[in-house]
Amino acid sequence: DEFEGSGVWRYNAALPFEEGVTLPEGDTPLHEMPRLKDDIGVDALRVKHEGMNPTGSFKDRGMTVGVRVAQEVGVDRLACASTGNTSAALAAYGARGGMETLVLLPAGKVAAGKIAQASLHRARILEVDGNFDQCLDIVQDLAARGEAYLLNSLNPFRLEGQKTIGLEIMEEFYADNGEYPDRIVLPVGNAGNTAALYKCFRELVKAGAITEEQVPKLTGVQAEGAAPMVEAIENGYEDTRRWEDVETRATAIRIGNPVNAPKALPGIRETGGTAVAVSDEEITEAQRDIAGEGVGVEPASAASVAGLRKLRREGEVDSDESVVCLTTGHLLKDPEAAAEAGNEPEPVANSTEAVLDLIEEPSSV
Ligand code: F0G
Repeated sequence: DEFEGSGVWRYNAALPFEEGVTLPEGDTPLHEMPRLKDDIGVDALRVKHEGMNPTGSFKDRGMTVGVRVAQEVGVDRLACASTGNTSAALAAYGARGGMETLVLLPAGKVAAGKIAQASLHRARILEVDGNFDQCLDIVQDLAARGEAYLLNSLNPFRLEGQKTIGLEIMEEFYADNGEYPDRIVLPVGNAGNTAALYKCFRELVKAGAITEEQVPKLTGVQAEGAAPMVEAIENGYEDTRRWEDVETRATAIRIGNPVNAPKALPGIRETGGTAVAVSDEEITEAQRDIAGEGVGVEPASAASVAGLRKLRREGEVDSDESVVCLTTGHLLKDPEAAAEAGNEPEPVANSTEAVLDLIEEPSSV
């Protein structure tokens, strides 16, 4: 059945239920990136492409568990605030489970593909005149008043499902390389994945499946315009300060108040990892680099590779390290950003001669 094909429910021994509302999710590719590996200069480089999930992001791994819990609890309205991907996943899994979904989005700051998904999967979409963090404040209020079941990553069951990213990485990397990766680099917004991966590794150590030394260094990447966790780490792991004004081309991680920071910061610290901020230009360059190896990701996802490149250049990452970069969402989520980062289409007259004339010259646009 469908649930047996799920890369999440395959690991149900680590989950609160045997099965859930599935599409099915997980089992995403762990791509080799030979040119990028040499270019960045590390011993091994893999890209775990979570954009290959049913709705095109890692959020599906959390929703398959979270919506199952909502059924168990017997709620009738599911809700989230979202920079886009959470809303797409919630709408799809809510529809699959036959439930009503409500999503609050920051007006004008959500990529087209994500709104299209939420819309077609029948979510009620409210565009708030405010940023993501303010949307989340409202949804938390709604949940506290009993008006909706909250399915942001504050919901711990979401993170249970997202732990399976770590299980898949460890299993597959070991099968291919005979060892575990030294480091996992991932984009950070609300820091849900960072918290989920840390929980995953703690459980693996506790079960005796891996040793403390085999836990990969968790390395977070934020956009310069939305980097409160990087700031907290630079200030000696102080409490994370909420940034009121945030901006980045990577709209998925345009977040100033990472709600899972208290769970994620110890993960970065205890695993010997770090966090780094990258510019929008560095994100765009990385998006092009990854695409140049045939793998299409959205801007926030490319932040992982941009961060690795920066840390390698600064000597924070050694040349003998094996690294897995997490790419969290698919290129088609944000077609506008992809078109801006990529080659410009060239107009040409309707004739073979005109086409030949044009392709003799290198592209001018
Ligand atoms: N990458 C993508 C593509 C995302 O959509 C998100 C979060 C992140 C990274 C950050 O993950 O929160 O676990 O640190 N998107 C949320 C949303 C906020 O609403 O879709 P995190």
